Amino acid sequence: MEARNCVLATMALLILVVAVNGGDDQPSSVKPLVKIVKGKKVCDKGWECKGLSAYCCNDTISDYFQTYQFENLFAKRNTPVAHAVGFWDYHSFITAAAVYQPHGFGTTGGKLTGQKEVAAFLGHVGSKTSCGYGVATGGPLAWGLCYNKEMSPSQSYCDDYYKYTYPCTPGVSYHGRGALPIYWNYNYGKAGEALKIDLLNHPEYIENNATLAFQAAIWKWMTPEKKNQPSAHDVFVGNWKPTKNDTLSKRVPGFGITMNVLYGDQVCGKGDDESMNNIVSHYLYYLDLLGVGREEAGPHEVLSCAEQVPFNQASSSSSSS
Ligand SMILES: *[C@@H]1O[C@H](CO)[C@@H](O)[C@H](O)[C@H]1NC(C)=O
Ligand SMILES: *[C@@H]1O[C@H](CO)[C@@H](O)[C@H](O)[C@H]1NC(C)=O
Ligand SMILES: *[C@@H]1O[C@H](CO)[C@@H](O)[C@H](O)[C@H]1NC(C)=O
Repeated sequence: MEARNCVLATMALLILVVAVNGGDDQPSSVKPLVKIVKGKKVCDKGWECKGLSAYCCNDTISDYFQTYQFENLFAKRNTPVAHAVGFWDYHSFITAAAVYQPHGFGTTGGKLTGQKEVAAFLGHVGSKTSCGYGVATGGPLAWGLCYNKEMSPSQSYCDDYYKYTYPCTPGVSYHGRGALPIYWNYNYGKAGEALKIDLLNHPEYIENNATLAFQAAIWKWMTPEKKNQPSAHDVFVGNWKPTKNDTLSKRVPGFGITMNVLYGDQVCGKGDDESMNNIVSHYLYYLDLLGVGREEAGPHEVLSCAEQVPFNQASSSSSSS
């Protein structure tokens, strides 16, 4: 009798849980598991924010960025002329982001900062994976995630300087792949180390797995290029305080400096650079589509890195597109 009551009680509880979840006005979002660890509230939201963290108690990405918004941002990616039809999807992005949301990706500083960070990150991604051009249908900015790899590589991007640390595997090509495309043996090697996946022997994993492609890109966004340098995430969400030298170098917190962190002298400190403007345009366009509005991006000095001294000068062989 006891056991039976217990079963009934459990069933009632289950029904209640289902009812509560079903009545949620944000059905795509998981209810957090909340715990108190050493007097601090920490949460876990399953596949949407993975691992107990205070950040997972905040609004997480799936609370303010949903499937239809992903579809709006990358509206043309599955049209027949695109080059990665069927590859990229919302689920892969959220699954990849779930690993970094407990560290603040999209979960720092409240919903607006989160929305802006997602727009900024995806702005970089959209610009680097676009096949849009001036007169493309839907406009040049509607074609992000058109590619998942470099189509006609002119070389295999093997830098012999790294033959002891990140030796090239014979017959393997380290051309651009991914959401923030990875080039060169040493970049595949470093990303592989961080993600614990053998990308040095199997760079093709990136073009076969959208979750991994997004994961490598978010890792890049969250990780400083060098010691004593901030990550793109840090400079964007306000975790970074400029030094005197930074201020003299016109490096101020905001979107512009994320380009400086990721691309250095390839796009920054060159005045009105075309690839810089293309990244900025994608960011502004996504802010509009997310309902945040481009006016939230701040003034030109913050948006651009045209006048900034690059963090990484004359990088020997790092390259893109
Ligand atoms: C989100 O999480 C961080 C980290 O615990 C916390 O500092 C912040 O106050 C939280 N809330 C908001 C609205 O950002
Ligand atoms: C794709 O990559 C993710 C993240 O690394 C991994 O969890 C998943 O198992 C991979 N999927 C396949 C089919 O290999
Ligand atoms: C200041 O910035 C310049 C240019 O970025 C750099 O070469 C120099 O090493 C920096 N100095 C210090 C003390 O960080």
